[in-house]
Amino acid sequence: MNDSVFTEVDQYIHRLFVPDDEALNKTMLSIKETGIPSISVSFTQGKMLFLLAKMSRATRILEVGTLAGFSTIFLARALPDNGELVSLELEQKHADIASKNIAGAGLAHKVKILVGPAGDSLDQLISEGAQPFDFIFIDADKPPYAEYFEKALKLSVSGTVIVADNVVREGRILDTETKDEDAAGIARFNKLLAETPEVDASILQTVGEKMHDGIAIAIVK
Ligand code: SAH
Ligand code: DHB
Ligand code: MG
Repeated sequence: MNDSVFTEVDQYIHRLFVPDDEALNKTMLSIKETGIPSISVSFTQGKMLFLLAKMSRATRILEVGTLAGFSTIFLARALPDNGELVSLELEQKHADIASKNIAGAGLAHKVKILVGPAGDSLDQLISEGAQPFDFIFIDADKPPYAEYFEKALKLSVSGTVIVADNVVREGRILDTETKDEDAAGIARFNKLLAETPEVDASILQTVGEKMHDGIAIAIVK
């Protein structure tokens, strides 16, 4: 099969379900202009995150990996007016770019970015007894995904939805001997997710603009 059909169908879904939006377009432009990595979720994946967050009726969202705030904008839009999104980002430069984009989308009042290694920020949230989150999106560096998930569980309650991006990586997670640290980290996370009795979970394979990949979806029992 010609793979271009996947991209064309992705564009078709985009045209149908994701209205043209100045804040999102500007965010994409900020990535090009500043030369930061072009690894945000796609428009159609962003819309799916928005839907999943809405379905979970989230009022508190935690995001691990902010980049330019593209997924952050989709997720924050799923929140009610009094909702809060906390996003964790290692790079001050990314956080600064994201803050501008989030303000441009009129969402600054709902979003707080914590700058530093996500593992440390998660530990800090746990130790300060942060209110649990209803929806958690894991999308930062891949090797510690399992660690992020274990910490995320400590910030969850029954019903919390946990979504993790990039859990298929064009099938590289199948290679148990892989030297690819990202794929190995994801494979460890996928196994842990499957074996964690506190959650019901599975993986949705995705194709399209972002090639062959997938998102893990879990709900805390
Ligand atoms: N969720 C974003 C994309 C995130 S890309 C979107 O879809 O729009 C991954 C981000 O994780 C990058 O900005 C990177 O700087 C950040 N990151 C990498 N290692 C990290 C770490 N140890 N702690 C926190 N963030 C990290
Ligand atoms: C990469 C990371 C991502 O979060 C993503 O969505 C795509 C690619 C990467 O590190 O290559
Ligand atoms: Mg990703």
